[in-house]
Amino acid sequence: MKQIHLSELNVSSFSLFNYQWCLIGVAGDKVNAMTASWGGLGTLWNKAVVTIYVRPSRYTHVLLERDDHFTISFFGQQHRPVLNYLGTISGRDKDKIAECGISYHVNQGALYFDDAELIIKCKKILTQPLDEHRISEDIKRLMYPNGDVHTMVIGEVEEVWIK
Ligand SMILES: Cc1cc2nc3c(=O)[nH]c(=O)nc-3n(C[C@H](O)[C@H](O)[C@H](O)COP(=O)(O)O)c2cc1C
Repeated sequence: MKQIHLSELNVSSFSLFNYQWCLIGVAGDKVNAMTASWGGLGTLWNKAVVTIYVRPSRYTHVLLERDDHFTISFFGQQHRPVLNYLGTISGRDKDKIAECGISYHVNQGALYFDDAELIIKCKKILTQPLDEHRISEDIKRLMYPNGDVHTMVIGEVEEVWIK
């Protein structure tokens, strides 16, 4: 993979998250990753940022609380079964990354998947549980019948890698 400047990145945040999905990766205390399809790329506090939404029940949520960095990785369609697997099984129960055989390396507490098409490494700058009282009733009924309301995590973009 080669590292590029942010200004060279030409992608649609909508199709990336909603259609391609990504892996949110952590490697501080423990290596783990989970599939995510909700998120965005944008600007905040004059910084390029990544926003992700993680339910408290996810093991990744626990690890994100402790870690200073996370990565989001996007893959080609051939890796869809791996993303389905990592989006169904919890790393709390087993070393799911080793089990699915996807290759990766860790550098300075960040997780890099070797076969990704795009990796964005972020420094965590905000962790904000969503206030369920401020979510519209129809969304709440649909998305949170059992609570477990997402935490919004915002990371400042530190590195962009493409295949
Ligand atoms: C396509 C897809 C998208 C998902 N998007 C999210 C998401 O944006 N936020 C979230 O909290 N969970 C999402 N999940 C569920 C987690 O990936 C799943 O619960 C995972 O097993 C959590 O793993 P962990 O317990 O090791 O963190 C998604 C799952 C799939 C299959």
